[in-house]
Amino acid sequence: MPRASQSFSVVLGVLFLAATTQAKSTAQAPQRPGFVRLDRVTASRPLPNGIEIHSGPAVLQITALRDDVLRMRVGPAGQLPEDASWAVLPTARTSSVNVTQETSNGTTGFKTAKLRIAIHRDPLEIRITDLDGHVIAEQFPDRPIEYHGAAFRVYMRSPFDEHYFGLGDKPGPLDRRNEAFNDWNTDAFGWQESTDPIYKSIPWFLTFHQGVAAGIFLDNTWRASFDFNKEYRDAYSFGSENGPLDCYIVYGPEPKSVVQSWTWLTGTTPMPPLWAFGYQQSRYSYYPEAEVRRIAARLRSEHIPADVIWLDIDFQLKNRPFTVDPERFPTFDQMIKDLRAQHLRTVVITDLHIADLPNSGYKPYDEGAAGDHFVKNPDGSTYVGVVWPGKAVFPDFTHQPSREWWGTLYADFVAKGVAGFWNDMNEPAIFEVPSKTMPDNVQHRIKEPGFASRNANHLEIHNVFGMQNTRGTYEGLLKLQPDNRAFVMTRASYAGGHRYAATWTGDNSATWNHLRQTIPQLLNLGLSGFSMAGADVGGFAGSPQPELLTRWLELAAFQPIDRDHTAKGTNPQEPWENGTPEDLDLRRHYIEERYRLLPYIYTTAEEMSRTGVPIMRPLFLEFPNAASGQQAVDPTIDNEFLFGPDLLVAQGQYPDEVDDLFVSLPPGGWFDYWSGARIDGTGSRRNIDNSVSPPTGVHLHRSLATLPVFARAGAIVPQQPLVQSTEEKPEGPLTLRVYPPDAFNQDCKGSIYVDDGTTFAFRNNAFHRENFTCRLTPQGLIVAVTAAEGTYPPWWKLLSVEVYGAGKAAAEASYSALDGSGSANLSTSYDPEHHRITALVPDNGKGVELKLSY
Ligand code: GLC
Repeated sequence: MPRASQSFSVVLGVLFLAATTQAKSTAQAPQRPGFVRLDRVTASRPLPNGIEIHSGPAVLQITALRDDVLRMRVGPAGQLPEDASWAVLPTARTSSVNVTQETSNGTTGFKTAKLRIAIHRDPLEIRITDLDGHVIAEQFPDRPIEYHGAAFRVYMRSPFDEHYFGLGDKPGPLDRRNEAFNDWNTDAFGWQESTDPIYKSIPWFLTFHQGVAAGIFLDNTWRASFDFNKEYRDAYSFGSENGPLDCYIVYGPEPKSVVQSWTWLTGTTPMPPLWAFGYQQSRYSYYPEAEVRRIAARLRSEHIPADVIWLDIDFQLKNRPFTVDPERFPTFDQMIKDLRAQHLRTVVITDLHIADLPNSGYKPYDEGAAGDHFVKNPDGSTYVGVVWPGKAVFPDFTHQPSREWWGTLYADFVAKGVAGFWNDMNEPAIFEVPSKTMPDNVQHRIKEPGFASRNANHLEIHNVFGMQNTRGTYEGLLKLQPDNRAFVMTRASYAGGHRYAATWTGDNSATWNHLRQTIPQLLNLGLSGFSMAGADVGGFAGSPQPELLTRWLELAAFQPIDRDHTAKGTNPQEPWENGTPEDLDLRRHYIEERYRLLPYIYTTAEEMSRTGVPIMRPLFLEFPNAASGQQAVDPTIDNEFLFGPDLLVAQGQYPDEVDDLFVSLPPGGWFDYWSGARIDGTGSRRNIDNSVSPPTGVHLHRSLATLPVFARAGAIVPQQPLVQSTEEKPEGPLTLRVYPPDAFNQDCKGSIYVDDGTTFAFRNNAFHRENFTCRLTPQGLIVAVTAAEGTYPPWWKLLSVEVYGAGKAAAEASYSALDGSGSANLSTSYDPEHHRITALVPDNGKGVELKLSY
């Protein structure tokens, strides 16, 4: 509907509202112009997939997209908001299942195969439960949905033991309870735990209550806000100052199902290139060219495994995106090739602010101006703001032709062999203005399939601007190299932005609290879709103490993206700088461990890109409930996480902490990853009675050398021989670290996924996957490997099966190939220090079984 008639119907709605209010003689709050309150059902209409409710002038629709995914839309003046979204995929948004209408005394509603929606008529209160009666979401009494002009707010009841997660990169504790937040993408240099908002807006959060998880997504790009138990102790609320009330409610009950459904709604993270999991070296900025070459040579001479060097803004001529400073980088093209020959890829920054340089032969400006691609002031002139290049103009990323034009700017760098691209400052950041961004009235054009073409002011577009910037980059790169997995890193984004880019947590600080903060922040990003995320290792602002840098490099080796980056003017921060020879050894040791774990990391990444389950996981995601008589883990734990399904990592202590570190270990047995020893007291059936059971875990002494890492009993973790870059083919057997299950939890499994690491050939079956299981026998253990799936040739022919927790050497070992091609007794070795039996087993990809007695 055209804007003029839309506002006309708002006016009509308000008049109608005023009339009905007069007719009622209730003690309700006085109605003001522009004030709409959905406080009682005045009419309702069943829909095949849900229900439509009227409350005075307002209409509210709840529909079922799936049995476990609902959509709720409200139009205060009787007209539902535009059915369009930057975040939700059209296939999901237009999905629908039939429902069964249910009406009872005082309520109307419907039922799906998983959920029951009951709407109390007077007062109007929506209540969503699962079929077991567990409340998923329930409106808070006496706070109906209200509109004050264009602004609206929804209040939900909050049980005292409900927890909240997600909302993207917002700092602070993992659990969002007792916090309030705003969504307004902001360049937040030097942010702290309490800083809000920062770079991203992902208006999606999970609720978790007594083992049952759900999720709510407010698909609204305007300045939205969330309040968890601050305004009311027993309510949470969300709303926005403008735009649609269009929200999705997702049911678990497992938290993993909720994140998988989030992926169903907003899409998967494309399979990243293998090199993105290597160690990455960055700083603001490496220049001149000789310095980049020096860093590359030093990484190799120090034997620090590494895959990527990043070039920050100073490689450009006067900070102008898509240029190279010819004096600082006289042989840029050759440098890219030479780095590649050293098995190092290059990622370069390409910010969105195009230098405002008419008639200067600067292609991005000339082409952009000629094609009318820049955002405008209300008077039609091009908006100009000051950023790194000085005066700059900005592509209109919500305007499809402009976004596509932006994508073509990458042709030159791609032709030179640049491997990845960094879209920074895309909140968008603007210098020299108090708002740090564009004026509210800057005009953007929306030209986008599914949306009505129209002009929109910056208030509506601000929070999706960065996301659409990365979309332009990602889709442009795919057009230039259709069979290459594009790698884009972004600072700002909106819900669904993970389809186009990885992210990092922006300008953190080289302080202990920021090391600690990486865990809740990366966990919440993962729950919000951005599993491909990292924090600047060593901290961006300021210089780290040697111990902090060492510990940060240790922890980041177990996080999805491992990139050391720092600001201009800080001390050198490469692993060989700022520390003793022991520090360097430790830093190298942990980066090496990451490279050994690449098969496990990459297999986890493939699962993430297929299902949406993040690489880095909060404990409650893997251990959600009190099933089988076991105590649920504390969902608020945020100094521990699971890296992939099986490795639990805990944050060491700060230097001012004198007590031992206590690491909570979820139910089931655990092994010390480094020593291979079974952790005493884990692995038996515990905590049957929550009230008397002590918390389970281990006390650890402070140690710089040992990051606390534990492996889950029943896990089979694949590892490879050490390489210096993902470009190298590992030489030797694939190691399977087998952590035997215990008598109470017999489940034992793992898998490996490999492919060529860079192309999309895996979509045509060019991958190799083997699944592993193990089971306890009266004599010992059987490890079974399934026949491989896929056509990609693996790099190994032998498996080195390492069985942990063994108190003595194996008495007997034998293998048999499942295709009958061979079977034999095997000799084994025993390492008492690591409680480990090792057997070498041939693996022809057809499946094999290893029997061990010990
Ligand atoms: C921003 C980025 C930072 C980068 C700098 C220069 O502050 O967050 O990572 O180094 O700009 O490009």
